Amino acid sequence: MGVNDRFLRACRREPVDATPVWFMRQAGRYMPEYRAIRARHTLLDICRQPELATQVTLQPVDRIDVDAAILFSDLLLLLAPMGIPFDFVKGEGPVIERPVRTADDVDHLRQFEPRDELSHVLETIRLVRKELEGRVPLIGFAGAPFTLASYAIEGGPSSHYAKTKALMYGEPKVWHKLCDMFATIVGDYLVAQVEAGVQAVQIFDSWVGALSPDDYREFALPHTSRILEAAKATGVPVIHFGTGTATLLETMATAGGDVIGADWRIPLDDAWQLIGHDRAIQGNLDPTLLLGPLDRMMDGAGDILRRAAGRPGHIFNLGHGILPETPVENVQALARFVHGQR
Ligand code: CP3
Repeated sequence: MGVNDRFLRACRREPVDATPVWFMRQAGRYMPEYRAIRARHTLLDICRQPELATQVTLQPVDRIDVDAAILFSDLLLLLAPMGIPFDFVKGEGPVIERPVRTADDVDHLRQFEPRDELSHVLETIRLVRKELEGRVPLIGFAGAPFTLASYAIEGGPSSHYAKTKALMYGEPKVWHKLCDMFATIVGDYLVAQVEAGVQAVQIFDSWVGALSPDDYREFALPHTSRILEAAKATGVPVIHFGTGTATLLETMATAGGDVIGADWRIPLDDAWQLIGHDRAIQGNLDPTLLLGPLDRMMDGAGDILRRAAGRPGHIFNLGHGILPETPVENVQALARFVHGQR
């Protein structure tokens, strides 16, 4: 098979032979081959062992007609070397041992060298690139400060971000210090990922939709912009993603990113209008549509492609990650459908 550069071309808004497609969480529990590995290893084991992480990264590339691979890792890995140990607990998700709540907690965090403390991730990148042999490009990623801070402060997943916002509003200096640290570390980590071989990066600000536009500008944008600048300087395409961002998209685009991710709560053409047609867009099918029925899923995908209207710079994806209960056949059928549309 030849080199497939559809994804990278679309990031640069160049013409493509078919709309490129990849899926957030394309490696994971919906795949039997992932569950087989997970039955014998914890999530952190997989992330920390380059051979296992490489194997899992390649599973969807072998099984589904995706136009990009995404590094198998996790947003939260950088918390531990900063001095915020955590674990993934079955049924609960991430659990932070001692959540960050005070000025003193923030003062005790440390900057670290990702090339030392996250060298296993960089080793995975080198291994994946070797194994891919150019079949599809490899995407690296990291979290944005608001999303990372929400886990560090809440101690795990949250629905209202009450503790996060209490710190943000109540102790803005402490908030900015924490986010500034995240920005420095994440910027450096992304540069290290590109040096190791990733060909694009995605910044996940998954939970930033919890903020109003004014609060986004005050509390998140300055830090995310710093990360996006560091990433841009590497020369690889940068994807800037969040969910629940219909009211934030315009501002997110000013923060930076060659490609802006949108979720299903806003029609793709409306989102593109807000972002500006001088940027590429990624999205935006509702992941629950992949549970079926298939004709409903295809209608949803067809609608998105109609709204993209063949304009260069659309990368097909879901609005958020694949759900664990998704049938693999539906993901395969969706990728084929997207490629067959023009
Ligand atoms: O295929 C891919 O997309 C790459 C792998 C990937 C994982 N995490 C592996 C993972 C990526 C890109 C992430 C990023 C990540 N991690 C995000 C941002 C993406 C998003 O969904 O918005 C977030 C918020 C996290 C933090 C995190 N990791 C949570 C909240 C959880 C628990 C929720 C859950 O689904 O269980 C995780 C665990 C996690 N990270 C899994 C995977 C495949 C679950 C797998 C398992 O338990 O085996």
